Amino acid sequence: MINRLDRPEIRQIGHLTIKRDDRLKYTHYAKRDPLTADCVEVYIADELRKGGMAFRKVKHLLNSEINRVKDDPFGETSIDPDRGDKRIRRSRAVNRLQIGIEEQVGLPIAIKSADRSDLDIDSSLVDQFLVMRELQILSGERLGPLGKVIGFLPVYGAIREGKDEYLIMQYIRGGRMEDQEVPYRSFGWSGSGDPSTELAIVVAKYQDFLAVLGINPLGEEHVRWRSITPVLETLIGRPLNDLAGRNVLIQGEDHQRKFVIIDQIRGNID
Ligand SMILES: Nc1ncnc2c1ncn2[C@@H]1O[C@H](COP(=O)(O)OP(=O)(O)OP(=O)(O)O)[C@@H](O)[C@H]1O
Ligand SMILES: [Mg+2]
Repeated sequence: MINRLDRPEIRQIGHLTIKRDDRLKYTHYAKRDPLTADCVEVYIADELRKGGMAFRKVKHLLNSEINRVKDDPFGETSIDPDRGDKRIRRSRAVNRLQIGIEEQVGLPIAIKSADRSDLDIDSSLVDQFLVMRELQILSGERLGPLGKVIGFLPVYGAIREGKDEYLIMQYIRGGRMEDQEVPYRSFGWSGSGDPSTELAIVVAKYQDFLAVLGINPLGEEHVRWRSITPVLETLIGRPLNDLAGRNVLIQGEDHQRKFVIIDQIRGNID
């Protein structure tokens, strides 16, 4: 039998273009409407095809879930702890699958949706898919046994349809890593007015995380993300952005927990 995934070339079937990325292990489909020139783009990672169920069925189930969360982005299946914030509601929605559907698909899946009419191209969910895909592959190659404690969120697919975008990813059931604002230490300068603050993690809560990174807090109560970021970047061999507790989810129980970094995009966004 011919395994379609092993064909590296670009294929054209009518108005549909199919491109395979063997390194990042996904297939990209672009379908252009010949009359309007509108394009629908779909990225599908190999993991989605490798489950026990026929891919056609998975595709159908995910499609109906995407339509459901499009109609009801902040309903019962919303998993975004910030969904109450009006500004955040304009930028994104994050939902899990309905329980019965998750059982059928056989993978815990979350769908992030965004309307990018207000957003620039760099913050698109397709970009997040591609960058997270790269980080997933790099962690397999470079983290070794540390990968049991620190990882990057597996992403399974992305869709761009006009101004609507969707990211299909692994659903992490644990909460987010907690962090705190601590005063920013300015060496030598004592500024006037309110002291600045920056985000830091509480050492006592995250000794496992720091130990894996080889960070020694030297008796300090907090370690700032500013000093954690370069350590992680060296490990993975690639720049990271926006590292903070809200972008690290905790998977698993106390003694065997894993810290999963989500939400990376290209370049620096500060
Ligand atoms: N795969 C997932 N599993 C579980 N929860 C998730 C998942 N993806 C996102 N979330 C939750 O939804 C929140 C928002 O998602 P995300 O960070 O991807 O959005 P964003 O708009 O890009 O974020 P930011 O506020 O960092 O700019 C996360 O902080 C997390 O609590
Ligand atoms: Mg985030």
